[in-house]
Amino acid sequence: PTQYTWAGRFTEPMSELVKRYTASVNFDQRMWRQDIRGSLAHARMLARQGIIAAADLADIERGMAQVVAEIESGDFVWSLDLEDVHLNIEKRLTTLVGDAGKRLHTGRSRNDQVATDIRLYLRDAIDDILTLIKAFQTNLLDLAEREAATPMPGCTHLQVAQPVTFGHHLLAWFEMTRRDGERFVDVRKRVNVLPLGAAALAGTTYPIDREFVAAELGFAGVCENSLDAVSDRDFAIEFCAAASLLMMHFSRMSEELVLWMNPRFGFVRIADRFCTGSSIMPQKKNPDVPELARGKTGRVYGHLMSLLTLMKGQPLAYNKDNQEDKEPLFDAVDTVTDTLRIFAEMIAGVSARPENMRDALRQGFATATDLADYLTRKGLPFRDAHEAVGLAVKRAEERGVDLPQLPLAELQTFSPMIEEDVFTVLTVEGSLASRKHIGGTAPEQVRAAITRARQRLATA
Ligand code: ARG
Repeated sequence: PTQYTWAGRFTEPMSELVKRYTASVNFDQRMWRQDIRGSLAHARMLARQGIIAAADLADIERGMAQVVAEIESGDFVWSLDLEDVHLNIEKRLTTLVGDAGKRLHTGRSRNDQVATDIRLYLRDAIDDILTLIKAFQTNLLDLAEREAATPMPGCTHLQVAQPVTFGHHLLAWFEMTRRDGERFVDVRKRVNVLPLGAAALAGTTYPIDREFVAAELGFAGVCENSLDAVSDRDFAIEFCAAASLLMMHFSRMSEELVLWMNPRFGFVRIADRFCTGSSIMPQKKNPDVPELARGKTGRVYGHLMSLLTLMKGQPLAYNKDNQEDKEPLFDAVDTVTDTLRIFAEMIAGVSARPENMRDALRQGFATATDLADYLTRKGLPFRDAHEAVGLAVKRAEERGVDLPQLPLAELQTFSPMIEEDVFTVLTVEGSLASRKHIGGTAPEQVRAAITRARQRLATA
């Protein structure tokens, strides 16, 4: 009797060290549902094609139901001696139902089996991620709606630039995550193709029906080439690339939340349940969640690099290197999923502090461009207007006031074209209201954009 299912031609047992080094069951067991789903579809196909008997299929289905129950209840014993999730399940099935269990692997290899499992797993993960992106976006739009007309400083170079509304800023986040969602939808198309039937690398001699298996498993089609089917992992790399971009966006949002929460800004409050304290400094309320999201972004980038590097030197077809795809991929799935879940909740716990936003606007001469535009409308070339306003800002700074606080007579020393009506463009509200084209920050445009965003969410 040999220790391993494959040990027929071996003359000595595997060393303990090698067993530990090569086993993957500790991390690939998370694909057990997908593995069983794939096996059942394969077995049904084998029976349909007359490759195994109907009685064998019945045994396999009965045995697998038992295996599922054991795993769900925690009674299933995972064994390192059985290397990976596939052999653990197959062995238990065989113990339960005998020869039918041994027939399951007909016309199949672990190479096409594992590729199928990963694709099924990733497809489920993408569907979860898409749901979570929507949940985040729904709560984000609620906040944007509440703050559609709340003025805050828009920044370039992190210096006050022009007034925007907080709602408008949040809609920028919406657009970022909208593209993230689209990328995952696109990746899913290339994930959703069936490798089974490729067997080890060259296909199989049995009269299999790959289209049937694909339909059973909800795949849109079958992998065209058996060598490619067992060795392709670029769908996993694409997933990590989409995950990296998503995390990059959440990292940028995190950076803004960290700044805005800082009392020097004081633009937002984040509900206490998403913050933590200090063990030494009693006054502290720290933005740990956004900080961790920012930090975890690096680890997802790392997984993308891991997978790219894992694949770059591999000749066709399957190589054991591929087993190393799982831990980075699974961690990327977990990190993105957890980050989305917590942000979806946290964004509902963010509230604006409009008085601090307005203070910052006042200190930043945020309507200087509006004054330059005003002069340009009156006929001054824009470059001259720019210079005149620059001098006015210098004067206001010396006086320690904002532009609208300079008396009309003083403003007129910078340009005789300035008249009483200048004060309507120097106000924050006037500045906001005048940017009323599509994509602009006027509150009416922000509200229209929210309506469009909600429609997209409802139909996507
Ligand atoms: N655990 C393996 C993996 O993750 C399964 C495929 C093993 N195939 C093989 N020929 N050793 O890739």
